[in-house]
Amino acid sequence: MKDIESALIEERLYRPTKKFQENCNITAEQAIKQHADYKFNPESFWKGLANQFIEWDKPFTKICSGSRPFFKWFEDGELNVSKNCVDRHIKNTNNAIIHISESGKKENISYKKLYEKVNRFSWSLKKMKLKEGDRVIIYMPTIPESIIAMLACARLGIIHSVVFAGFSSESLKDRIIDCNAKAVITVDGFKRSGKLIESKKVVDEAIEAGCECVKAVLIFNNLNLKISKNKIDFTWDEIAPRESVVVDPLSMNAEALLFILYTSGSTGKPKGIMHSSAGYLLNCSLTSRWVFDLKENDIFWCTADIGWVTGHSYVVYGPLSLGATVLIYDGAPTYPDKNRFWKIIEENKVTVFYTAPTAIRTLMKVGEDSPRSFKLDSLRLLGTVGEPINPKAWVWYHKMIGLGNCPIVDTWWQTETGANMIAPLPGISDLAPGTCTKPLPGIETAIMDTNGDEITNANIGGDLVIKNPWPSMLRGIWNDENRYKQTYWSKYNGKYYITGDTARYDDKGNIWIMGRSDDVVNISGHRLGTMEVESALVAHINVAEAAVVSYKHEIKGEAIHAFVSLKQNTKKLDNSKYADELRQWVKKKIGSIAVPERISFSDMLPKTRSGKIMRRLLRNLARGEEISGDTSTLENESVIAQLREIL
Ligand code: WT7
Repeated sequence: MKDIESALIEERLYRPTKKFQENCNITAEQAIKQHADYKFNPESFWKGLANQFIEWDKPFTKICSGSRPFFKWFEDGELNVSKNCVDRHIKNTNNAIIHISESGKKENISYKKLYEKVNRFSWSLKKMKLKEGDRVIIYMPTIPESIIAMLACARLGIIHSVVFAGFSSESLKDRIIDCNAKAVITVDGFKRSGKLIESKKVVDEAIEAGCECVKAVLIFNNLNLKISKNKIDFTWDEIAPRESVVVDPLSMNAEALLFILYTSGSTGKPKGIMHSSAGYLLNCSLTSRWVFDLKENDIFWCTADIGWVTGHSYVVYGPLSLGATVLIYDGAPTYPDKNRFWKIIEENKVTVFYTAPTAIRTLMKVGEDSPRSFKLDSLRLLGTVGEPINPKAWVWYHKMIGLGNCPIVDTWWQTETGANMIAPLPGISDLAPGTCTKPLPGIETAIMDTNGDEITNANIGGDLVIKNPWPSMLRGIWNDENRYKQTYWSKYNGKYYITGDTARYDDKGNIWIMGRSDDVVNISGHRLGTMEVESALVAHINVAEAAVVSYKHEIKGEAIHAFVSLKQNTKKLDNSKYADELRQWVKKKIGSIAVPERISFSDMLPKTRSGKIMRRLLRNLARGEEISGDTSTLENESVIAQLREIL
């Protein structure tokens, strides 16, 4: 088989401003030194950082131990993550959290206040007889109380598992059962796009369907809804201490699990990704400093929901461990209108903004010019995560949101990696739209060809792997050691961590993510990353979003089926005319090899609640197969029927 061919070459380059370079946390000289230190002695590199970034209760003497695929970091050290994120900063005068609710209410929580609240809730958890090693589900929207709940668990060594509040009762039940959770922390309800979601009812349904392990449900009264109370239900008020309390943080072993977070794999059953305490905290903390350039006076808005790993690492643990201020907003990006995000940035003088390409494209679609009416000059750094950002969206983000002054950090990582792995250092890297650039100091990646050799040439795609262990790597899949070995370590004789992504280098050594390895199509003997075709399609002036999948083709082996949604203001033309135009366009951008055989136009594409296009579903449709696997994560179920109609 040939290696994946790459045809999309991006020529534009963006340098950080002088002002940014002069004030950044990591300068070119420091970066060179970090890389050199790592190369010279990886163990002393990590040792130095672990001592610099973490406050230890008991110092560690061991650094990295174990062997593939099971590693331990700093295993004889002790710390408490909650203490590192809260207690360390109680003398700070800045806010820990600024919360904006969808309805427009604003709450500021100082570090001191956060400390009090975390202590109070820790007391309640203790009162409920929850203890070290127990698993507790947090099923809540992104409000301060979910952060407080996470930090209170961490304070007592309780392993939290946050389940995204948009998941159905069935998905919730599966996760509760899988980790054998003793308690569920939830809210009465919350609003999203103005619509009421009654979380407590969903929890009831899950428990009725059979979760005997759950001994208590702790309900935060978020909207003052009338709720039905079962024997195991307690409101936060009922179990709160009467006066102010201090609950000492437990000194935890470095390797003690901090949390489990479920993520979907290629099979229906979600994987409970396990993360440790010290190693996880270290990479979150140092990437917050290096990549997001955070300082204590920053107002960092990471728009991710607390239910995803981005919410764990860059709403909670990373920024709070540095004593910065995080802004959280619990509503939809376009509620009540397309300007909501820009208004929040203006009103709160957000300095660092981190969001997903899908959000950028959505906001671009509904109002390409609307950011112009807002004062966005408080921003100094922008970030993206979750999928490759198409150059057109990147350039818009840079110009319209960053006003041409903000570096954009395109951060590649995964639930499994815990923290950014491949990302620019914003004061140094030359940025080309669409690449996540190079691995961070301490991270060694490689791109592998089908023979198991490392690819070093530009523009040849292969499997992206991570060669050496790193502190925040997953510690396994909860209760499924075999699946852990099989999914992440089996392909290259157990030598490397398999990311499941394909990637290529450009001629400057920057890494371009091409897609998941199963998103690769083979057309007439040429392997192509579907993401590249998508990127070409969305670069067309009338295209809002595109998803590309393959289906079996008599002559070519595989052919491309593109699902396209056009911009709202697009002239109504015959679909076949647009299809012809897009074919010409792709031919021009990549070559005839990539021209989609079929193009279907639809108002919307099927997306998961975290905003990822569900290509698996489109693949089924394109191939005329039954829809396989889990569709419970779909944001809009009706899209399936719509798509069937247009095929
Ligand atoms: C997968 C991980 C990491 C937090 C959000 C998603 C894709 C992630 C990028 C990026 C291209 C990216 C990869 C990865 N991905 N960031 N900057 N450029 N692709 O976490 O749900 O664990 O998904 O998202 O395919 O494997 P996740």
